[in-house]
Amino acid sequence: MLTEISLTSFRNFENQIFTFEKGLNLIIGPNGSGKTNILEAIGYISQAKSFRRAADKDIITWGKEFFRIEAKLEKDGTKHNISISYELETASKKILVNNKPVEKTSILFSLFPSLISTDRDQDIIDGYPVERRNMINRLISIANPEYMNLMLDYRKVIENKNVLLREQKTKELKPWNQKQDDLSSRIVSYRREFIERMREPFGILSKEFLNNKKADIYFSPSLDGSRSLDELIKEELEAGFSIYGPHRDSIDFLIDERPAKIFGSEGEKRLIILAFYFTFLDIYKPESMVILDEPFSVLDRRGTGIVLSHLLNQTFISAPFIYEGIQKFEKVLNL
Ligand SMILES: Nc1ncnc2c1ncn2[C@@H]1O[C@H](COP(=O)(O)OP(=O)(O)OP(=O)(O)O)[C@@H](O)[C@H]1O
Ligand SMILES: [Mg+2]
Repeated sequence: MLTEISLTSFRNFENQIFTFEKGLNLIIGPNGSGKTNILEAIGYISQAKSFRRAADKDIITWGKEFFRIEAKLEKDGTKHNISISYELETASKKILVNNKPVEKTSILFSLFPSLISTDRDQDIIDGYPVERRNMINRLISIANPEYMNLMLDYRKVIENKNVLLREQKTKELKPWNQKQDDLSSRIVSYRREFIERMREPFGILSKEFLNNKKADIYFSPSLDGSRSLDELIKEELEAGFSIYGPHRDSIDFLIDERPAKIFGSEGEKRLIILAFYFTFLDIYKPESMVILDEPFSVLDRRGTGIVLSHLLNQTFISAPFIYEGIQKFEKVLNL
């Protein structure tokens, strides 16, 4: 649980301390007041990067030389402090956990996992398949940290293969195809297993979220085991880059058996992703901090109530004002 965060030269906060409670923390304020900036800082403690995909230099308050986030957290009755700073001149990031430097940023995540939902979530459903693969990759990595390494290895193989394909070096391709085949089958089985485990509970929860419509997720791997990469070599050489494998898998969301990307309303799309995230938390990481940036802006009163009734643990929600449906909360931060 996050109890306090202290920001120095972080976005529009030059020097500010905020305290939080267990349960629901609301961050309220007009446009541009810094609500998302605070959520960004909270997310940064867990992920050592901005969920807005902002460059670290852009997070520093304009005209300043560095930013620092200091946080006090509690986990299983033990207090921890974290300090993350980034210096403009050297472009270097320093992370201290309980005053000791840490090299691997993944330590933060394993200590304080977080799940972040923003208004970009609608793009997960609407956008290119890569958006959905990224989302699934993120969740599977939270559940199985070794999956992240598998994906890193896989990306390197694809980069190497792409060079060889571009240069039409047919003979050298074989060992890389072998590597890709091995990694692919492991990645696909992680994905299959994850989606199979999620499907039923997600379907059930989605009916509650979507006022009786049922959402589903559909996974179709690019390599399903029926053909090996060596058999596809001609097509890949013609394309000049790698066109088969998990980096081309397709994942789609359905709403009442129709593609959500075509037929889902804006609110429905956000609710589908929220139902998916909450299902994930239930099964895999119930202790995660949950960060929701403006979840209610596209939701009606029923949707708002449903989301609020499913919150567990510590949640941070931003909103321009306290909506009618929000009745129970532990803390309001008024900017
Ligand atoms: N590096 C920076 N230095 C100083 N101020 C910054 C920096 N980056 C962003 N800001 C300021 O932060 C403000 C945006 O804050 P933020 O996105 O948190 O607002 P918000 O409260 O979430 O608003 P909305 O309701 O529109 O989502 C901008 O108005 C911008 O001026
Ligand atoms: Mg905002």
